[in-house]
Amino acid sequence: MAFAGLDLTGRKALVTGAARGIGATLAVGLAQAGADVAVCDLGSDESWEGLANTVWRIRNEGKVGIAVDLDVQEVEEIRPTIRQVERDLGGLDILVNNAGIRRRAPALEVTEEDWDAVMDTNLKGAFFCAQAAARLMIPQGYGRIINVASQFALVGAANRAAYCASKGGLLNLTRALSLEWARYGITVNAIGPGPTLTPGVLEAEELEAAFADAGRGGLSRDEELLVKMPLGRRMDPEELVGAAIYLASESAGATTGQMLVVDGGWTAM
Ligand SMILES: NC(=O)c1ccc[n+]([C@@H]2O[C@H](COP(=O)([O-])OP(=O)(O)OC[C@H]3O[C@@H](n4cnc5c(N)ncnc54)[C@H](O)[C@@H]3O)[C@@H](O)[C@H]2O)c1
Repeated sequence: MAFAGLDLTGRKALVTGAARGIGATLAVGLAQAGADVAVCDLGSDESWEGLANTVWRIRNEGKVGIAVDLDVQEVEEIRPTIRQVERDLGGLDILVNNAGIRRRAPALEVTEEDWDAVMDTNLKGAFFCAQAAARLMIPQGYGRIINVASQFALVGAANRAAYCASKGGLLNLTRALSLEWARYGITVNAIGPGPTLTPGVLEAEELEAAFADAGRGGLSRDEELLVKMPLGRRMDPEELVGAAIYLASESAGATTGQMLVVDGGWTAM
């Protein structure tokens, strides 16, 4: 018999950045655990195509799936869009702040535009989505907010100054919000994925190949994974789903302000 504490039947979730990669996989995973799921992403044709596919997979699980256009950098759009999602789904219990970008570059070459784009998406966008969701969750006395951070919230990495700063900030934001909202039955936690095979990672690695020093002490990416990650390989997004279901569930009611690190052992050393 399945453990009822992890059953998300009747719960309503929103996953940001869910046209592809980790967001798409987590959205489908929440539906497999029983939730109705709204997904959002940028308004580009490519994003809409990805969202349509994610929604199709959610509906295949027999759950309600809705796609909305939300660029989390557009703070003015966040509150009305999340309210609309709540109306369309008939509630909002779970928010997964997954939308994130990476702009890899040596620190000396990072531009203000790169810095702002990374911070505005990974940190500011996540904060204002959490704020908008909490406004709806507080009156109902229940909520689960999950921020997709990174193992780079805990340790640094070359060529990722802004990214590391944004994820470190997101982890401490998680702790700060958890303190404010625990009294309303809202938990705020993070997931800390390690290297995971997604379209975004493959694009970034292709660009990084052009840097004279990738910051790996002369190691290739595959050699670095063997040295730094006991698992010895990139993870599959599916390997993050169980963590998300737990943090989204009633079972996690006493887990708040934490990051569940799923990084193949990267930060164990
Ligand atoms: N893949 C990894 O190795 C890894 C490791 C640690 C953390 N993460 C984090 O996981 C999350 C997802 O990463 P991924 O690898 O699946 O990336 P990805 O690039 O494959 O997918 C990210 C999705 O977010 C969307 N997005 C980007 N900016 C957005 C915005 N402003 N508003 C709404 N949507 C936006 C993109 O369009 C895309 O669909 C990110 O927060 C990332 O930092 C990934």
